[in-house]
Amino acid sequence: MSKTIFVLNGPNLNMLGKREPGIYGGKTLADIEAECIAAGAELGLTIDFRQSNHEGTLVDWLHEAADKAAGVAFNAGAYTHTSVALHDAIRAISPIPVIEVHISNVHAREEFRHKSMIAPAVKGVICGFGPHSYILALQALKTITQ
Ligand code: DQA
Repeated sequence: MSKTIFVLNGPNLNMLGKREPGIYGGKTLADIEAECIAAGAELGLTIDFRQSNHEGTLVDWLHEAADKAAGVAFNAGAYTHTSVALHDAIRAISPIPVIEVHISNVHAREEFRHKSMIAPAVKGVICGFGPHSYILALQALKTITQ
């Protein structure tokens, strides 16, 4: 049976395509969703892809993942750098593996992006590969949830 993977996206990621294309590229979030669904089909994963600008909604979806998902690929956007609530939610759903995803290489950018509040709670971090970061996270989730 195909495993379900939640791909969760935080604030401002709905603006991809228009938002700072020099940093994030020209693909929209809908483009990335289609790529994740196609890669998921090849990997035998069912992709449940979502985006919210609201921290509490992301907390709720992490809780939902505990019942419905084998793993989570999570681009928390700017909440990565600020959110104790998301750190706690990731710990709360252990042992469901969560992989932190970033399109850009946050370590090559402003200093405030170098700190991740969620990194100590996640299984691993993938950043800097553009939208391909999501596909790498799906491949990793496929391997670690076998
Ligand atoms: C991001 C990096 C974050 O620092 C930023 O706030 C984002 C996007 C990325 O995917 O590169 O919104 O998570």
